[in-house]
Amino acid sequence: MKKIAPSILSADFSRLGEEVKAVQKAGADLIHVDVMDGHFVRNITVGPVVVKALRRITSLPLDVHLMIEQPERYLEAFAEAGSTWITVHAEVCPRLKAVIRRIRKLSVKPGVVLNPSTPLKRIHPVLDEVDLVLLMSVNPGFAGQSFIQSSLKKIERLRKIVDQNRYGLEIEVDGGIKVENIREVSRAGADIFVLGTGIFKTENYEETIRKLREEMA
Ligand code: DX5
Ligand code: ZN
Repeated sequence: MKKIAPSILSADFSRLGEEVKAVQKAGADLIHVDVMDGHFVRNITVGPVVVKALRRITSLPLDVHLMIEQPERYLEAFAEAGSTWITVHAEVCPRLKAVIRRIRKLSVKPGVVLNPSTPLKRIHPVLDEVDLVLLMSVNPGFAGQSFIQSSLKKIERLRKIVDQNRYGLEIEVDGGIKVENIREVSRAGADIFVLGTGIFKTENYEETIRKLREEMA
């Protein structure tokens, strides 16, 4: 089943709990949490305390996207906080396989993320060990950027590799997705769609999610 993952980065942080409850009620499948450290990306966002707080107010899985250097230093903290998935960027993990195995040992589902310019071959060695591959369709750091069109080809290529080898992983795509373009992202082979602006900056979350489901079917 295809899934919609609202990214809290575009939510109203002064009412974060209400915002998350509202998208849950509107039919979201999981909650995407963008963690940024001011080093791997320029922006700084939230840490384990926010994941822990969200864990108490929603029953949805928490999809924690770590845009941080040396993510291995924080895996335990994010696992204890209640993450369902933890995804780490291949660009900052010279020992990617070991990091993925650590995440799984912590009873969290491991995933790997690629920036738009990082080639798929970087993750070939871990495709049989991850539950999720997250392909960035914008350069990470900020919400509200435009979808990079060449991502579609990359999604298609990964879809083929996953199907041919029957890897048990889901393909997630993050950045610049909206009602207007989710259909082509879905057709390219994505399973999970992250939307910040495309949900939280719309008037009626329920209606937006209904339209998104229609388009991505
Ligand atoms: C970008 C983040 C995304 C972003 C998505 O660095 O990883 O999750 O918030 O926001 P939109 O949908 O506005 O591109
Ligand atoms: Zn993200």
